[in-house]
Amino acid sequence: MSAAGVSDDINCENPKELYEKAEEYWANAPRDDDGMLGGFAHLHKPDITQSRNFLSGLHKKGFLSSNEYAIDCGAGIGRVTKHLLLPAFKKVDMVELVKKLVEKSDSYIGPNPSMGEKFVSGLQDFVPEKGKYDLIWIQWVSGHLTNRDFTDFFIRCKDGLRENGLICLKENLSDSGKPLFDDEDHSWTRPESLVIELFNEAGLTVVASEQQRLFPKGMYPVKMFAMKPTTSVTKAQAKTNMPTLI
Ligand SMILES: C[S@@+](CC[C@H](N)C(=O)[O-])C[C@H]1O[C@@H](n2cnc3c(N)ncnc32)[C@H](O)[C@@H]1O
Repeated sequence: MSAAGVSDDINCENPKELYEKAEEYWANAPRDDDGMLGGFAHLHKPDITQSRNFLSGLHKKGFLSSNEYAIDCGAGIGRVTKHLLLPAFKKVDMVELVKKLVEKSDSYIGPNPSMGEKFVSGLQDFVPEKGKYDLIWIQWVSGHLTNRDFTDFFIRCKDGLRENGLICLKENLSDSGKPLFDDEDHSWTRPESLVIELFNEAGLTVVASEQQRLFPKGMYPVKMFAMKPTTSVTKAQAKTNMPTLI
């Protein structure tokens, strides 16, 4: 049980109250880079720079062959959409739980002909359109989902991929071996072993991964994972499935 009196069980069957608390937290967060980064606006630059390099490496290795359509999941005001995805894709959609943040994204991103649809929805309910996306990017939001909703969401993401499409997760990881609950924003930080277990349950194989550099000591490790549906991964691709920890 969390301090707010709601269940903090990552396997809880009825997370409605927990999800409402998280929504309340984000509805009241500052609608700027600092708010999206929990007061660490200075992490914006190293975050985006390394994500950009990671994406370009995925293109070079042939894991991503098209730059038609991407979606930013748990997009907030559109920080990742604006700085990472719009410069790299012809069309970008975003999905975000909090309506006020989606509204703010209009002025934050500014007019851009590549901006696609903006969905107001929790990822626990969102169904990506079948076969639409080359890249589904999920950053600093998956900790808001219970294990079941996490797995089910990634299963639906698989269906949303175009041929040779890719799902990327960028997330904090717990190094204590178990999920840690944050009473303030009502999210969990999972250990890497659990994240990989849930990917496997969702039928996804990690084809590349990389740890974020240049973040201050004392913060959770942050890692990017690029995944493909296990059924579509060739032997050669599976061979490269080794963490590129730097
Ligand atoms: C830490 S912020 C990260 C925002 C953005 N991904 C970024 O990196 O700038 C977390 C975001 O996830 C959103 N969020 C929280 N729970 C969610 C859920 N269940 N479904 C979709 N978005 C959610 C919050 O409203 C907030 O915008």
